Amino acid sequence: MPERFVSSLNEVASLRDRLEAEEKKLVLTNGAFDVLHVGHLRYLREAAALGDLLFVAINGDKSVRELKGPGRPVNSVEDRAEMLCALEFVDGVVVFEERRASRVIEAIRPHVYSKGGDYTADSLIDEEKVVLDRLGIEIKILSLVAGKSTSETLKCLSKREDSTKKVAIFGSGKGSNAAAIMEAASEGKLGGEVALVMSDVPNAGILSEADRYGVPRIFIDPGTTRVGHLTDASLKEIQDRLQAASIDLIVLAGFMRIFREPLLGAFGGRILNIHPSLLPKYSGLRAIERAIDAGDRASGYTIHLVDGGVDSGAILRQEEVPIHSGDSPEQLQQRIHTAEHVAYPEVIAEQLAKLA
Ligand code: GAR
Repeated sequence: MPERFVSSLNEVASLRDRLEAEEKKLVLTNGAFDVLHVGHLRYLREAAALGDLLFVAINGDKSVRELKGPGRPVNSVEDRAEMLCALEFVDGVVVFEERRASRVIEAIRPHVYSKGGDYTADSLIDEEKVVLDRLGIEIKILSLVAGKSTSETLKCLSKREDSTKKVAIFGSGKGSNAAAIMEAASEGKLGGEVALVMSDVPNAGILSEADRYGVPRIFIDPGTTRVGHLTDASLKEIQDRLQAASIDLIVLAGFMRIFREPLLGAFGGRILNIHPSLLPKYSGLRAIERAIDAGDRASGYTIHLVDGGVDSGAILRQEEVPIHSGDSPEQLQQRIHTAEHVAYPEVIAEQLAKLA
């Protein structure tokens, strides 16, 4: 790494102390700054105006890959540092190898910490917020320029090159539906490709299924929140990942957490779910056991569009599956799965065909 482009944490920390003695302020911001665009320039110019010197902490290549997916970074850390240092309002760059900037913030103790406006003070990564609050660092959230983002830039480029529709599958469990969908895609029956598999459970079977089909897979840490919910930070990470992979359709296959705004709005009418009952009967947990306990003669599956509720939204396909006397939950689940595995890829293909 050319030294003229990159400073060490110690250098920046002692610079900060010198500035403080002169009653001046050091501003720090961080990010990947992978594909530099005018939104970055406007944001960094504004950040620089919050103090006297602006340092930018950038993620090393490995952590960009972990955060943004296997196709990133587009530009190496050396090139990113060189481009940032060429900006007249950037005074220096530091590189960090972790996913989060907490250690850098702790070491530099900037007077002001600035972040782009798709964050709010609440959706700042918990780990970083704890350090900022503990050190009493001023946090400034700056507005971003609409439509001028890395994901928009990459989306624009990839749309020009590739019209293949992309599906992301979310699940918390075994992943038998995901496997059926990836199998259909590999046989060319989906009218699109499965570009991403995501789970909120680190060792879920669905992640191994993704590996089996060579599909990029990501564990999303759901954060500490109410059961079945997602923190603002994890929801944001999900949205960033979906945008980075140019996803057209989200498919929930046994994902046991509820999506909410702004994700629902961003994918309006393009999120599907499958539930093992004839909805609206037995929405929520233990649908199969509840049908057996009620003495029902039939159960089934429902594939529907997702709205903000639990297993609610416009129904796209529903099919009855018989309940035999003496059925165990496992036996009934197996019969429902067999029907689901045929239906879900077909409904996904129908929905992808509708996306212009
Ligand atoms: C499927 O049977 C699906 O209907 C159900 O989770 C199972 C996932 O199995 N969905 C829900 O309960 C949604 N509320 P899989 O992981 O083997 O695909």
